[in-house]
Amino acid sequence: MKRLKWVLYILAVLLVLIQFYRPDITPRKTGTETSDLLQTIPGAPSYLRGACYDCHSNESTLPWYAHVNPVGIFVRNHILEGRKHLNFSVLLDYPTVKKVKKLNECAEAVTEGFMPMKSYTWMHADARLTDEQRRELSHWFETAAAAALARDMNNQ
Ligand code: HEC
Repeated sequence: MKRLKWVLYILAVLLVLIQFYRPDITPRKTGTETSDLLQTIPGAPSYLRGACYDCHSNESTLPWYAHVNPVGIFVRNHILEGRKHLNFSVLLDYPTVKKVKKLNECAEAVTEGFMPMKSYTWMHADARLTDEQRRELSHWFETAAAAALARDMNNQ
């Protein structure tokens, strides 16, 4: 019994200490008005923002439980990792080949169902996409890839 008390005590201390670890999610790259995908390329389904922007943009909003560790570390790391791979806030600043490739990967990720992440849709009901929405969103990403390419060609 005494040992159990000690174990619980140590766990409680660790739980308090771990609260001080806060990975910084301040955006590293900021863009101009025309770098943001949704502000520049029209016609995106309204649910795109809710399904992807928390992890793949500079506009991440944290739910209350992201202020409590260890869940907070998990959430913040997804944001940092997600942005590193793909950041819609600055996507149009990427080199042409890269932005077209990323947008096509988005179309694929949505059709194949590996995005948005399961752990995210589990807590965010509004980010759960129906098959119909996945088809529509995937199609929009393909259109956006073509539009981004056309835009860069015209700007040259
Ligand atoms: C909970 C956070 C989260 C959400 C929400 C989310 N993603 Fe991701 N996404 C990630 C993380 C983390 C990675 C990198 C690791 C991986 O591939 O699993 C990633 C990787 C990707 C990649 C691969 C990019 C590359 O360079 O390899 C694509 C494409 C992608 N996401 C698209 C989307 C789209 C489209 C949505 C919305 C429909 C979305 N994601 C929603 C976190 C998220």
